[in-house]
Amino acid sequence: MLIDHDKLRAIAKRVFEAGGSSAEEAGIVSDHLIEANLRGHDSHGVGMIPRYVGNLRLGTVTPNRKGRILKESGAIVAYDGERGYGQVVAAAATRLAIERAEKNGVSVVALRNAHHIGRVGTYGEMCAEAGLVSVHFVNVIGHNPIVAPHRGGDARLSTNPLCVAVPAAEPGRPIILDMATSKVALGKVRVAKNRGVAMGAAHIIDSGGKPTTDPNAMFQKPTGAILPMAEHKGYALAFICELLAGAIGGGGTLRPENQGLDTITNCMLSFVIDPSRIAERDWMRDEILAITRYVTASPAQNPGEPVLIPGDPERLSRLERAKNGVPLDAETWREIVNAGESLGLRVEAPNMSAS
Ligand SMILES: NC(=O)c1ccc[n+]([C@@H]2O[C@H](COP(=O)([O-])OP(=O)(O)OC[C@H]3O[C@@H](n4cnc5c(N)ncnc54)[C@H](O)[C@@H]3O)[C@@H](O)[C@H]2O)c1
Repeated sequence: MLIDHDKLRAIAKRVFEAGGSSAEEAGIVSDHLIEANLRGHDSHGVGMIPRYVGNLRLGTVTPNRKGRILKESGAIVAYDGERGYGQVVAAAATRLAIERAEKNGVSVVALRNAHHIGRVGTYGEMCAEAGLVSVHFVNVIGHNPIVAPHRGGDARLSTNPLCVAVPAAEPGRPIILDMATSKVALGKVRVAKNRGVAMGAAHIIDSGGKPTTDPNAMFQKPTGAILPMAEHKGYALAFICELLAGAIGGGGTLRPENQGLDTITNCMLSFVIDPSRIAERDWMRDEILAITRYVTASPAQNPGEPVLIPGDPERLSRLERAKNGVPLDAETWREIVNAGESLGLRVEAPNMSAS
């Protein structure tokens, strides 16, 4: 079914308000989730609401926390998310990183103790919007590992996302690399399970370490594992994300002592640079445009599939879904209704159209 994004946003906002968030916070979290749906990342959209509500019950996310500076020395800041909604505290940490980079030319902000921060690209986009370049390394603790190391037969890591953002050289087209270092994000396996479809390719292994396309392998006990992207290179990059976000960033790694809480805690180490301290902005813009045009002019191997740059698929999805609606499967809708009801809220089905 397709559902209008504003209607979905209003439902999400009511659920978070019923969960104890201020209207402002409920707006920030629901805007973030809807934006993920609009940009084609249903794994990080409203499908997360049931999980967030479950974590409210567990007490592992605390409404109305903005986070606080733990430690600072000039361009370097350690920021405690105080177990607040990640969408709120990671945005606050990123605003701080932007301010410090504008002042010092560069900044490093280490966020810890944040509930799920969602689509990491959101924070890269904030930096790019401010004319800054940023790199964000993320790890996930608080729950059991879900990604196998290269050559390993069970899960030892998380999906360890990485984001690199470069300001737009043409209006509305920032360059945003935002990816899990696993072959797929867990949310995408959840979406396949809820839709009752097999994964397109064997991106996961079952509990016996054998490749499978059955998404249920990730949701039954004993649990399988998602494979790292690009074999040894993806694993190596995931390991670096784990070290930078969890150990260097001060929030903790996915060692056994930091597992098993059945929640989602993100740590994010962000490096933000003011590129105008290195080269002239106009020169840089011309250079980015020239290489973008050169690379994307490569003849398409398949008709209708032109060469894109990172950030394009999300931008194009946003245009299409803002117009036609966000797809939502019946199981995800049922889970959202149940989550609302568990907070004493009656969630009425908005008008939907068949997709
Ligand atoms: N908070 C967390 O703990 C957490 C964990 C894992 C993933 N995530 C989020 O999950 C989301 C999904 O991650 P993913 O790895 O499934 O994303 P993906 O594989 O859909 O896209 C990864 C990147 O590749 C780019 N891309 C895609 N097709 C392209 C093409 N044809 N040409 C050029 N570039 C292209 C995209 O713009 C994007 O930057 C991300 O937003 C990520 O931040 C969050």
